[in-house]
Amino acid sequence: MFETLQAQPSDKILALMKAFREDPRPEKIDLGVGVYKNAKGQTPIMRAVKTAEKQLWESQDTKSYVGLVGDPAFADAMISLILGDAVARETVAAAATPGGTGAVRQCLEMAKMANPKLRVFVSDPTWPNHLSIMKFMGIEVVPYRYFDNETRGVDFDGMLADIKQAGKGDIVLLHGCCHNPTGANLNLTEWQIVADTLNATGATPMIDIAYQGFGDGLEEDAAGTRLIASSVPETLIAASCSKNFGVYRERTGLAMAVSQDSSAKALNQDTLAFLNRQNYSFPPDHGARVVTMVLTDPALRADWEAELEDVRRGMLKLREQLAGELQRASGSDRFGFLAQHRGMFSRLGASADLVEKLRAEHGIYMIGDSRMNIAGLNEKTVPILADAIVKSGI
Ligand code: LMR
Repeated sequence: MFETLQAQPSDKILALMKAFREDPRPEKIDLGVGVYKNAKGQTPIMRAVKTAEKQLWESQDTKSYVGLVGDPAFADAMISLILGDAVARETVAAAATPGGTGAVRQCLEMAKMANPKLRVFVSDPTWPNHLSIMKFMGIEVVPYRYFDNETRGVDFDGMLADIKQAGKGDIVLLHGCCHNPTGANLNLTEWQIVADTLNATGATPMIDIAYQGFGDGLEEDAAGTRLIASSVPETLIAASCSKNFGVYRERTGLAMAVSQDSSAKALNQDTLAFLNRQNYSFPPDHGARVVTMVLTDPALRADWEAELEDVRRGMLKLREQLAGELQRASGSDRFGFLAQHRGMFSRLGASADLVEKLRAEHGIYMIGDSRMNIAGLNEKTVPILADAIVKSGI
């Protein structure tokens, strides 16, 4: 029967990871997959995570099932991290998921159950896997303008005109912070206008927040999500712990459905539990438990916040260094946007041919749409990249 299967397009990001691994050139630079790396090129286990894991190893006495939506303490800790006191806890239904991707999938499943003819408005561009998942699920995707290729900032007028076309029963997918792949983000005034627009049209927001703490700080990066969740009747949120806790392979995420009408919570909660049962039964526990320990133990939390802040500042420094080196190498300010972008990614705005030239001639790997992972750089490789960019004619 399997002869009827058709080969699927390979994921651009994962294909690039493989190509990088197979490249024998010692000077190669990996600016591909969105994984944080320190100056030595390592993706370390965060100190607080390691400590919590040790404590867990000592104290855990069973690996029996927890619950269909995971440990409620994980949901409590994450809801408080992401939403603060923007909404009342009893308005939020939540289920632990395998990573942020699992949360994206479960939120979309829930929206599709509510409206089988669902349309999802997505930023152009967005994380490629958003598009792939929705195509696989048979969900109609409607792109909205987002990235301004001239300024490398947000085309807010275009975005607004396009999301005004979404109505009741549609989802508008937003990135909570550190937009992937562009690095260009909304300011708070713009978030407020988006909230007002959603209220005017009746469309429901879904926020993917995968990089809280990587942009302007833990609180600042959640501000847009908090504003939306407290302003509109219903919000879906897909959260990932992969990056800000560095627990990529533990697959730790949370799907949330916020409803201002707290009587809706029970049904939303049952729906998320049902969806977990259909797709994988119980979500993974180890990463979620470690994250809960880190968030609820004051000493571990303080250490985690301090390390995360170092990571964030390190990336900002690299951004500033790169913008400065490019100014030096090109004699122009046209790369200043790199210091304005936030998070791990920036879209350089180069053609696919130039991106390929950087790979072939300089061993510099970035995604074909010219998304680069700033954390793949270090002080020594920044000038190398700047020279290569200018030599390639970007
Ligand atoms: C990325 O965008 O590179 C990350 O979110 C990793 C992934 O799964 O694609």
